[in-house]
Amino acid sequence: MYATPLGDSGAELRPLEVWHAEELLAHIDRGREFIGRHIGLPDAVPDLDGARAWLTSYAGKRAADAGSLHGIWLDGRLVGGVLFRVWDSPSGVCEAGCWLEPAAAGRGLVTLGMRVLLDWAFDERGMHRVEWHASSANEPSIGVARRLGMTREGVLRENYPHRGVRTSTEVWAVLAPEWREARARTARGER
Ligand SMILES: CC(C)(COP(=O)(O)OP(=O)(O)OC[C@H]1O[C@@H](n2cnc3c(N)ncnc32)[C@H](O)[C@@H]1OP(=O)(O)O)[C@@H](O)C(=O)NCCC(=O)NCCS
Repeated sequence: MYATPLGDSGAELRPLEVWHAEELLAHIDRGREFIGRHIGLPDAVPDLDGARAWLTSYAGKRAADAGSLHGIWLDGRLVGGVLFRVWDSPSGVCEAGCWLEPAAAGRGLVTLGMRVLLDWAFDERGMHRVEWHASSANEPSIGVARRLGMTREGVLRENYPHRGVRTSTEVWAVLAPEWREARARTARGER
C-alpha cells in the first residue's frame, strides 16, 4: 500500500502488519542467527503462529498509540524493520529499535529508515526524546545510534539475560532540539 522511499537506496519503508506474517517468518528464517546475536526477536518469531502473535502485539500497540512497526522492503522483499518499541505521548519519550537480515546490512538502510521515524516523532508527534537501547557488544547498533547523532548516556550493567548470558545495555538518546540542529547542519552541508 503506501510506502516511503529511503533516499536513492531503492528500499522502501512500509507499515508491517499482521497479514505479513508469512513474509516476516521467511525473512527471519533468512537472518535468524545474525539477528538473534543480541536481541530476542527471532525467539519471538519461531514459527508462523509466533510471527502472527508478534505482529498482533504491535497492531495492539499502534491501536493504543503505544508503539509502531515499520518494515524495510528492498527489491520487493522484506529485509528488516525499524520500530518504536515504547511510545509514551504524555511524557514525550519513546524508544526505537531496528533489525536487518544480513544481505541488507552495510547499505545504510536502518539509518535512513530511522531518520524518517525521527522526523515523524519530533515534527509530527511532538516527542521530546528518542532512546536507543543496545547491547554493549552490539557495535553495528551502536554505530547506528552514533550516525543518528545520539548521545551515550549510560550503561545498565548485566541487565539483560540473552541466551544464557547476562549482557549489559547501553542507553543512547537524542532530544528534539538536538535532532533539529543536526538536521539543519546537514542541510547547510556542515558535518
Ligand atoms: C543493528 C543493524 C541493523 C545495523 O545494520 P547496519 O547495516 O550496520 O546499519 P545501517 O543500515 O544503518 O548501515 C550502516 C552501514 O552501511 C554503510 N552505509 C552505506 N551507505 C550508507 C548511507 N547512505 N547512510 C549510512 N550508512 C551507509 C555505513 O558505512 C555502515 O557500514 P559500516 O558499519 O561498515 O561503516 C544490524 O547489525 C542488525 O540487524 N543486527 C541484528 C539485530 C540487532 O542487533 N538490532 C539492533 C537492536 S538494538
